[in-house]
Amino acid sequence: MQNFYYDIPTKIAFGKGEIAKLPKFVKEFGNKVLIVYGGGSIKRTGLYDTVIHLLDENDISHEELSGVEPNPRITTVAKGADMCREHGIQVVLPIGGGSTIDCAKAIAAAYYFDGDPWDLICDFSQATEILPIISVLTLAATGSEMDLFAVISNEETKDKIGIGSPLVYPKYSILDPEYTYSVPKYQTAAGTADIMAHIFEVYFCGIQGTFMQDRIMEALLKTCIHYGPIACEKPDDYDARANLMWTSSWAINGMIACGKSAAWPIHAMEHQLSAYYDVTHGHGLAILIPVWMKHILNDKTVDIFVNYGINVFGIDRELDKMEIANKAIEKTKEVFDSMGLSDTLRSIGIETKENFEVMAEKALGDGLDDYIVPLTKADIIHIYDECF
Ligand code: NZQ
Ligand code: ZN
Repeated sequence: MQNFYYDIPTKIAFGKGEIAKLPKFVKEFGNKVLIVYGGGSIKRTGLYDTVIHLLDENDISHEELSGVEPNPRITTVAKGADMCREHGIQVVLPIGGGSTIDCAKAIAAAYYFDGDPWDLICDFSQATEILPIISVLTLAATGSEMDLFAVISNEETKDKIGIGSPLVYPKYSILDPEYTYSVPKYQTAAGTADIMAHIFEVYFCGIQGTFMQDRIMEALLKTCIHYGPIACEKPDDYDARANLMWTSSWAINGMIACGKSAAWPIHAMEHQLSAYYDVTHGHGLAILIPVWMKHILNDKTVDIFVNYGINVFGIDRELDKMEIANKAIEKTKEVFDSMGLSDTLRSIGIETKENFEVMAEKALGDGLDDYIVPLTKADIIHIYDECF
């Protein structure tokens, strides 16, 4: 197990009706709020009215930035930062899924940045301070509600860049599973795949000696595999929504990664799919994962797959190791299939392979030579090809 420093500043209010605490949380930081949200789901569900009522009742003034895109754009970040300056905003309040929360994180940082916000995203070490963020989560997926990441897209350059900084942890996040009842089946499935991907990135990174974290990861994976399909079929199942929501936070809040260091190649590959084709993040991951798993399965990694197969899926431990590993990969794919996620890039509208080379170069970034199974540009093109 490697050395680590662990500190999560985000406070969580979890459960039915916890939104009532919002004014108290806001008032710790001020009384001028920028509400940030996406395409209208919060208006359809009534959550918007609840929030406005709570803010008005408590004399908290508010401005609104709506229309945050899935795979949020830098242009929206710039607009939000301008609004914060114009209105003297003291707290940024995203209400939505990962895209909305990520956009809010970038807005809160861009507010203090004297320059083009995209330059800040490209080199986030330039950030010194950010406005406080209080998030209200409506979709269990990214873990942005309790993590130090934000991912922003630039349509013009076809780049999708993730920042990671302790500055961007939300101060508070309100997690009411009932707000996720309205998430459509497709987004529920994609969100579950995303949670699983966050765990896979760490579980398969190859650092040994983390027995405790490995067993916790298996429990988190079992939760997704059990409750993902249930939430897809019965959207108002409270236990399914609650367990998925809390798992989304713990999959990426750093705890399972303590003592490990992970290169996150599946995400690097998926972010190119979203950057070039604006695909749904979790669906892109679900297509990539079984192919990536097959690619990294070898004598060096087989024991990790064996643990995964036995402890997560209950595969017979008496079988040959490679057989267990291959069955575990098949079962992973079955989970995605059972939630209705298709399994080819063609099925999500990618019609040619013309961008695979440049996407592979970008996914490679500074290189994946140190990964448990070193990945080259040719390997990544091969993985895209196999997914096609
Ligand atoms: O736009 P609205 O109306 O909010 O609708 C959204 C959107 O269409 C809808 N939705 C959300 N909550 C809903 C709902 N519809 C009905 N009822 C509700 N309660 O779902 C759609 C997708 O929302 P989005 O926020 O885009 O999804 P997600 O949470 O999966 O976020 C994806 C983004 O997060 C990034 C991804 O790359 C992508 O840009 N990621 C962020 C990470 C992080 N911050 O740590 C890590 C992840 O790996 C990921 O890269
Ligand atoms: Zn993800």
